[in-house]
Amino acid sequence: MEMTKEEIEQLSKKQPILRVAPQMRDLNNNGHIFGGWVLSQMDIAGGIVAAQVAQGSTATVAIEAMEFITPILPRDLISVYVNVAKIGRTSITLCVDVIASRNRGDEQVAVTRGTFHFVALDENARPRPIPEESRAIYLDGK
Ligand SMILES: CC(C)(COP(=O)(O)OP(=O)(O)OC[C@H]1O[C@@H](n2cnc3c(N)ncnc32)[C@H](O)[C@@H]1OP(=O)(O)O)[C@@H](O)C(=O)NCCC(=O)NCCS
Repeated sequence: MEMTKEEIEQLSKKQPILRVAPQMRDLNNNGHIFGGWVLSQMDIAGGIVAAQVAQGSTATVAIEAMEFITPILPRDLISVYVNVAKIGRTSITLCVDVIASRNRGDEQVAVTRGTFHFVALDENARPRPIPEESRAIYLDGK
């Protein structure tokens, strides 16, 4: 579902998990940024939040509902925002939004969003229960 202008404005006032400038090597043949590049930035940002929630190691188990809304352009600065949507027994569901800032920050554009699922891992790389206190901290009444 596309974000409204107001939603984009609200989001871009928050602190992103990552803020990155794509490089020329990240361009595809259309002169836009590769989908795979932005996907990896989203996975990195999601992994940072998932590790905080899980208080330890996590792995990406699934990515769904990816939407490439509009192309990322060479001089865009992208910000990746992460919202904890759900905490299961061992899994964490995150909504990840990417906003591109262009024209020296005059324009904020929602470029990509997706739902990422991470699993907390134990020392044998098997699913581990999420610490109880994380629910109160990260779900904030959801
Ligand atoms: C993550 C991994 C350890 C999970 O093992 P598993 O045997 O599938 O574990 P389970 O079936 O017990 O599922 C664990 C949790 O993940 C959730 N899950 C599993 N597959 C899922 C999927 N496709 N989508 C959403 N959630 C999923 C389960 O619902 C469960 O959540 P809950 O405990 O909160 O109810 C295993 O799939 C794995 O190692 N995958 C590779 C991870 C990786 O290398 N990622 C990097 C990307 S290359």
